[in-house]
Amino acid sequence: MEEAYRAGKLRAIGVSSFYPERLVDVAALAEIPPAVNQVETHPFRQQDAAHAVMAELGVVHEAWAPFAEGQNNIFADPTLAGIDAKHGKRPGQVVLRALMQKDVVVIPKSTHRERMAENSDVFDFELDAEDMAAFAALDDGTLPRIFAHYDPKVVGWLVRDLVRTQQLGGGTLY
Ligand SMILES: NC(=O)c1ccc[n+]([C@@H]2O[C@H](COP(=O)([O-])OP(=O)(O)OC[C@H]3O[C@@H](n4cnc5c(N)ncnc54)[C@H](OP(=O)(O)O)[C@@H]3O)[C@@H](O)[C@H]2O)c1
Repeated sequence: MEEAYRAGKLRAIGVSSFYPERLVDVAALAEIPPAVNQVETHPFRQQDAAHAVMAELGVVHEAWAPFAEGQNNIFADPTLAGIDAKHGKRPGQVVLRALMQKDVVVIPKSTHRERMAENSDVFDFELDAEDMAAFAALDDGTLPRIFAHYDPKVVGWLVRDLVRTQQLGGGTLY
């Protein structure tokens, strides 16, 4: 990636699911440190500690699965419903806005055009301190819900799958 960057083929280098110890390692050893780190981040796992390390290293924190892939019945969550009613917005919009106000870049995914429009319409309101405190309380401190990238079994599965994907000439895993 550094070679491609120096050759002008890349404008920036990004990594994904690099938790603090691994991010500090790569940022210290790489000649061109990562510009962005995409990490599982959503209301139930807001990654405040990892965010602090990224901020210190000057790495942009980007959320993957900002809606927790729909887990926890997120779009009907009563806390989010209370905040969205106050602002005349939808629960997903509150999630995206709250993460953005925490300096997290969000990349929600939807297969529905109207939801894509809804998810983009988050620049005309601001959550106040009370809203942000309620949002912060949704983080239950549990382990990652989707992939535990520090679990050797998960890493083994990901690496084997990635190698198999490349051998088949397919795309990338993420
Ligand atoms: N780097 C990594 O390891 C990694 C891992 C996972 C994901 N990602 C990336 O992160 C991005 C998003 O993650 P994701 O797709 O896994 O999860 P997500 O964005 O948290 O959730 C997507 C789910 O939310 C639904 N949804 C989206 N907008 C909605 C709305 N306004 N109202 C109601 N439902 C809504 C979608 O349904 P519909 O599609 O039916 O609308 C879909 O079921 C993707 O670009 C993905 O590639 C990266």
